[in-house]
Amino acid sequence: MNKKSHIIATGAYLPQKIMTNNDLAKVVDTSDEWIRQRTGIISRHIAEGEETTSYMATKAAMQALNNAGLTGRDIDGIVLATATPDMTFPASATTVQDNIGMGDHGFAFDIQAVCSGFIYALSVANNFIVSGQGKRMLVIGSDCLTKLLDWGDRTTCVLFGDGAAAVILEAHEDDGSGRGILSTHLHSEGKHCKLLYTDGGASSTGTIGHIKMAGQDIFRQAVTRMSQAVVEALETNHCSATDIDWLVPHQANIRIIESVAKKLKLPIEKVVVTLSKHGNTSAASIPLALHEAVEDGRIKQNDLLLMEAMGGGLTWGSALVRW
Ligand code: UT7
Repeated sequence: MNKKSHIIATGAYLPQKIMTNNDLAKVVDTSDEWIRQRTGIISRHIAEGEETTSYMATKAAMQALNNAGLTGRDIDGIVLATATPDMTFPASATTVQDNIGMGDHGFAFDIQAVCSGFIYALSVANNFIVSGQGKRMLVIGSDCLTKLLDWGDRTTCVLFGDGAAAVILEAHEDDGSGRGILSTHLHSEGKHCKLLYTDGGASSTGTIGHIKMAGQDIFRQAVTRMSQAVVEALETNHCSATDIDWLVPHQANIRIIESVAKKLKLPIEKVVVTLSKHGNTSAASIPLALHEAVEDGRIKQNDLLLMEAMGGGLTWGSALVRW
């Protein structure tokens, strides 16, 4: 029988420090009104001190394990999506592996696809499950993009926040119920890499650099690519937009989310939107939204969920899941 990945638990962590739009307006030439109207963001969390990528990822992972009634020993592999690892190497996932008590069981590695990172990590982990190489996989998105901000650049510093969220995938025999991860689709187009990038890196400048973004170009690409990814997922699974119970999109800008929903003729009530509270948390944004909607009971068993993202690279993709 074929194997399917079921998402059996979620967890999340947001840093203690909260920075509102009004706080930001004290450091850069911006206003609460501009940020709310142009992005939908009201506040974001800022990682400080011990709140590294692996720290936040561990907190999210532990919550997911507790929710599932499992321990680290029950996990066969960790795929951690991040663009902001604790160190250039080793992978932050191996720190998480140690923190959650997996010992030398299984394996752990990072994946880098910036804001599409969670979709990429989910797709890779799903392949391990489907091919029988793991029974349970921990998939985490954890990012501290505020460490990459130029706090004098109002076109970028108002957009991002820090956070982490995790899901546990478990192998189940495909029993015909239709539940589990139904499809994932990944895409990239490297020619647009300079639309969103950091002007530094280990093998070039030897620094981590700052975020540079062509905002309007990224906006246009985001609407186009995420809409394409949604249509691709629906067509592959012989579904239509009316079949979707919840769209769980990358949380970058409310206007991007609304444009994609409008193209799909999907009422905004069916879209999980959490960005007002944490801004764009890169790889953490989809699982943070997913976690909130699972915890507050919006997402119920058998619901059809469509997740989509686009980020630097450019990278984009989707995942269709029957919960
Ligand atoms: O995961 C992917 C990551 N990134 C994204 O998804 C971001 C995609 N892009 C966007 O969300 C939007 O393009 C932004 C929010 C970045 C910008 O919104 P916009 O509506 O495209 O604004 P704009 O760049 O056209 O700027 C309009 C005006 C400009 O002033 P002038 O030239 O009209 O006088 C900007 O200088 O707004 C000004 N502006 C600001 N004003 C106050 C730009 N940033 C700010 C700011 N506060 N923070």
